[in-house]
Amino acid sequence: MLSQLEAQPADALLALIKLHRDDPREDKIDLGVGVYRTDDGATPVFGAIKAAERRLLEQQDSKAYLGPDGDLGFVAALMPYVFGASDPDRGGRIAGVQTPGGTGAVRLALALAKKAGVRRVLLGKPSWPNHAQIIADLGLETVTFDHAQADGTANLAALEQAMAGAGGETALLLHGCCHNPTGIDYSPDQWRSIAAALVSSGALPIVDVAYQGLGEGMAEDAAGLAIVLDAVPEALVAYSCDKNFGLYRDRVGALYVMTQAASNLPAILSNIVAFARASWSMPPDHGAAAVRLVLEDPALTRQWQNELTAMRARMRAMRERLAAGDNEVAGMNLAPLARQHGLFAMLPLSPAQVERLRADHAVYMAGSGRINVAGLTSHNIDRFIAALAAVAA
Ligand code: LMR
Repeated sequence: MLSQLEAQPADALLALIKLHRDDPREDKIDLGVGVYRTDDGATPVFGAIKAAERRLLEQQDSKAYLGPDGDLGFVAALMPYVFGASDPDRGGRIAGVQTPGGTGAVRLALALAKKAGVRRVLLGKPSWPNHAQIIADLGLETVTFDHAQADGTANLAALEQAMAGAGGETALLLHGCCHNPTGIDYSPDQWRSIAAALVSSGALPIVDVAYQGLGEGMAEDAAGLAIVLDAVPEALVAYSCDKNFGLYRDRVGALYVMTQAASNLPAILSNIVAFARASWSMPPDHGAAAVRLVLEDPALTRQWQNELTAMRARMRAMRERLAAGDNEVAGMNLAPLARQHGLFAMLPLSPAQVERLRADHAVYMAGSGRINVAGLTSHNIDRFIAALAAVAA
């Protein structure tokens, strides 16, 4: 039976990790998978997380099961950052569970939406490739619309048109901030229009917040989400701590649900924990416990925020240098990159140009032309701009 299975293509983004690792060229540049790097190209563990891990090692007195909803102290400690400090659970209408990374949260959100009657998911394209994969894997229909416009801003008209034509049984999957792969976020006015379109269509918003703090700041990056939540009766929020706590391989995430009335929460949460139990039983504990310890300790919280601020400033500097490279690279509009957010940007490169960058210049990026801005450093960015100019010529 098993021998009838057809081989599946390897995940193109993850395959880049190995290709880059195996390249012997010393000046190779890795702009592939989305991990933050320092100006020396390293992805160190946050100092605040290291301190929390030391505490965990000393203080943790049991590894007994916590349950399918994971570390609820972690889930609660994040809420003021995600939903605002003044009323983090919006009058008892928001609750959540811990998940294995943001992917676990997205999967759980979509499975729950399907069980609640959603049949199709509106998705701006391009998006993180795994979004469409999860939607398809769950047997839901994907309806795409163009996310970006040629001037480097978000295409609100395309979203509104897709919403108007979608009909019932629809969810809208949004990137809360630092859009992956374009770096193009909605403006506050656009968020208000999206919120209005959600209210009039009755579509269920599912907001994927995977990069909070890597755009403009923790509070600023949650502003669009707040606009939506202020308007709609219910929503699902998938959260990842992979990037903003640097916990990638520890798989730390959460799924939050906002309901119309607090009395609806227990039934919805019972469905969420049933899905979790049937999927992974319980999420891994270590990373979430470390995040909780950071957020419970004001000194560690400050340390974490300072580390995040330094990351943001470095990425901003790289974006500004790229934007300034606009006149060095023929025919490629790099100026909007300075206004965009987060780890990623899309360059208008053909697959052949991406291949030339890899073969001739040892520059690794996704075949779509997406770059991880954090892979650029003060040591390699001039060489990268020169390589772009060479393949664009
Ligand atoms: C990325 O898009 O590079 C990251 O979100 C990593 C991943 O899991 O794909």
